[in-house]
Amino acid sequence: MSADRLFIFDTTLRDGEQSPGASMTKEEKLRIARVLEKLRVDVIEAGFPASSNGDFEAVKAIAGVIKDSTVAGLCRANDRDIQRGIDALKGAKSWRIHTFIATSALHMEKKLRLTPDQVFEQARLAVRYARNQCPDVEFSPEDGYRSDMDFLCRILEAVINEGATTINVPDTVGYAVPELYGEFFKTLRTRIPNSDKAIWSAHCHNDLGMAVANSLAAVTMGGVRQVECTINGLGERAGNTSLEEIVMAVRTRKDFFKLDTRIDPSQIVPASRLVSQITGFVVQPNKAVVGANAFAHASGIHQDGVLKARDTYEIMRAEDVGWSANKIVLGKLSGRNAFRQRLEQLGIELDSETQLNEAFAKFKDLADKKADIFDEDIQMLFADHNDDQTKEHYKLIAMKQSSEMGESPQASITLTEGGVERKAQSQGSGPVDATFKAIETIARSEAELVLYSVNAVTQGTDSQGEVTVRLARAGRIVNGVGADTDVIVASARAYVSALNKLFDKSERLNPQTSGTV
Ligand code: KIV
Ligand code: ZN
Repeated sequence: MSADRLFIFDTTLRDGEQSPGASMTKEEKLRIARVLEKLRVDVIEAGFPASSNGDFEAVKAIAGVIKDSTVAGLCRANDRDIQRGIDALKGAKSWRIHTFIATSALHMEKKLRLTPDQVFEQARLAVRYARNQCPDVEFSPEDGYRSDMDFLCRILEAVINEGATTINVPDTVGYAVPELYGEFFKTLRTRIPNSDKAIWSAHCHNDLGMAVANSLAAVTMGGVRQVECTINGLGERAGNTSLEEIVMAVRTRKDFFKLDTRIDPSQIVPASRLVSQITGFVVQPNKAVVGANAFAHASGIHQDGVLKARDTYEIMRAEDVGWSANKIVLGKLSGRNAFRQRLEQLGIELDSETQLNEAFAKFKDLADKKADIFDEDIQMLFADHNDDQTKEHYKLIAMKQSSEMGESPQASITLTEGGVERKAQSQGSGPVDATFKAIETIARSEAELVLYSVNAVTQGTDSQGEVTVRLARAGRIVNGVGADTDVIVASARAYVSALNKLFDKSERLNPQTSGTV
């Protein structure tokens, strides 16, 4: 174990994905995994392989391409789950089995209906099974922070004896406070005789808004050297510990933490954008590090100070975390090569020349409508990009709306449905409502619209609008994202993209709705 190194374990693709509505396709998970690798996280928890065939395939695909981060998979403490995890991960250059079982009296009795002795035995055997095939095994006592200290010491000592290399003690329900969580680790590490044989890890949920503070207290007071976190703090309920806040706190206050991470901070904002774009979870403007206002100085006194000497009001530099300061990067006259080069710089990988040609055509279209093209615009060209998993059952061909003060807005739409062209018209309370109703006249999806949000991609009234549509049907929740300088067109694209995901049976269930954790 390195004394001055803090390991960053990213669980955006597993715990983050458990957030209702954040379910991702294999292709989307792969895109995020590639960005996490560029960000240089130590461990990417890619999913929960036994939860569904879709997640198994996604974890396997990620294990196949990621070379510079360890790829982990979550498994319940039983041989079947662990074997699924091993089968999904064994092709990776570096991989980890993360196995867990609940240890609090409440969870053991009410959820698992197991005695503490049964849980103890299951944990021990699970770690033994995993260690026989994988040298890197993490064990988590779920609801660990609310577990009995004596029992926790007994079980953790046993799993370390079986070869667990990382011990992660989660605050599953976000109940901890910093001093107590820090002390908790200190007690565990002092009382468990073989505690020095494992790396200790914190995993916090943000129900009381203290996930980052709790994780940092575990580091400083409890000797923890791995923090589990997600991009933008994505996660169930109030979310998980924010990766960007942990990394920048440790980096900015190195004088205090005296720790290094391996993270490349310039990839923080690109990672944040991609996760937000794919999941449809918008980042609040005042969110630390990655919020749109995180580096904006509005008050005259602050602006004056920053102009005279930047560090009067700034403790971090925007460009260090990947804010590109809205630089104009391309325009109408930019050629295919410049476009290709910019995609490479932004870490956007296309699989074929055909994909590049399609993207370039979209870029030219956009450049006809908008004089200055920013990085954000280029990223949005891929927002409604359909992966090879999601079939384009519905395709938007044409649309028109009219609205006039005092009149009911009208929309007409032309879609192809399974290759057959269909047209429909509808009225609505506004042009977006009329457009969605016209689409539904064709699709008859019976889905419920649970979220509709619009964001400007850049500044100015010629900015593209980024629209997220979230649809729910029979316990299944999907997101569609669309972008265009015309927000009604962006809305229609987002709706059609969500319908395609809903229609596509290969879209996997959100692990939460399949009742696995
Ligand atoms: O919050 C939690 O307890 C978890 C474990 C499964 C690690 O996510
Ligand atoms: Zn969790």
